[in-house]
Amino acid sequence: MLAGGTGQRVGLSIPKQLLKIAGKAVIEHTLSIFQQADSIDDVIVLMAPGYVPDIEKIVAKAGLTKVTKVIEGGSTRNETTERAIAALGEGLAEGEDRNVLFHDAVRPLLSQRVIKDCVDALDRYEAVDVAIPSADTIIVTRTHGGDGEFITDVPDRSRLRRGQTPQAFKLSTIRRAYEVAAGDPNFQATDDCSVVLKYLPDVPIYVVAGDEYNMKVTQPVDVFIADKLFQLASTAVPQPTDDAAYRELLTGKTLVVFGG
Ligand code: CTP
Repeated sequence: MLAGGTGQRVGLSIPKQLLKIAGKAVIEHTLSIFQQADSIDDVIVLMAPGYVPDIEKIVAKAGLTKVTKVIEGGSTRNETTERAIAALGEGLAEGEDRNVLFHDAVRPLLSQRVIKDCVDALDRYEAVDVAIPSADTIIVTRTHGGDGEFITDVPDRSRLRRGQTPQAFKLSTIRRAYEVAAGDPNFQATDDCSVVLKYLPDVPIYVVAGDEYNMKVTQPVDVFIADKLFQLASTAVPQPTDDAAYRELLTGKTLVVFGG
């Protein structure tokens, strides 16, 4: 559970993962989803420095028994992942491997369907991403002197996806990717699949269909949207239960009548 950030863009005096929405801290919602997932054995939380005791309190109070470790994250998301990789490798015998999912603590509306599809996909692939189609047209820009931004490309929207989390890996694969990345003085990334893509180009990265509900609380307006989505979630909108059905829904081949 990647919770090492401080939430500068939301701009509160506490990290946004500790903000209460729908009666609970954002991270408590997220941890509860993993607690309930049959395919998840253990959860390690990487928390923003100085806030480890807050998580320990939440874990004890909510009875989140799958949380086996709470440690401090790093100063970037990738540094936090590297610390997670080290912690996940503890106690493993030589040659023993493990399935791991990295999830943003600030995506508290993740569905059990997406977790299951990620874990199932690890039977066939060493790296798995979660993504949804982009409703917006994505443009590529460059800055020009002091004049602001200008378009340089408009990629074909039908092939564009918005990456979410979890991102799932064989531990040995993501560790190898970060080991190669360590030799690159210009290394920078904002997620983990891109580290595999760049430094282990022969490893296919499978894409599981994500979910519009699986939003990331990033900007102040997202706090309001997440609150509303929790209210909606409690009215139990029917959702497809596997990756293939959800993919059809996302690509518009199936008409689903919600609520009826
Ligand atoms: N994250 C992390 N370690 C960091 C930075 C981010 O584990 N050093 C985690 C965040 O806690 C969050 C997820 O990565 O769960 C997604 O990052 P983002 O939304 O960018 O979170 P923040 O870095 O907290 O936000 P901001 O960039 O606005 O400061």
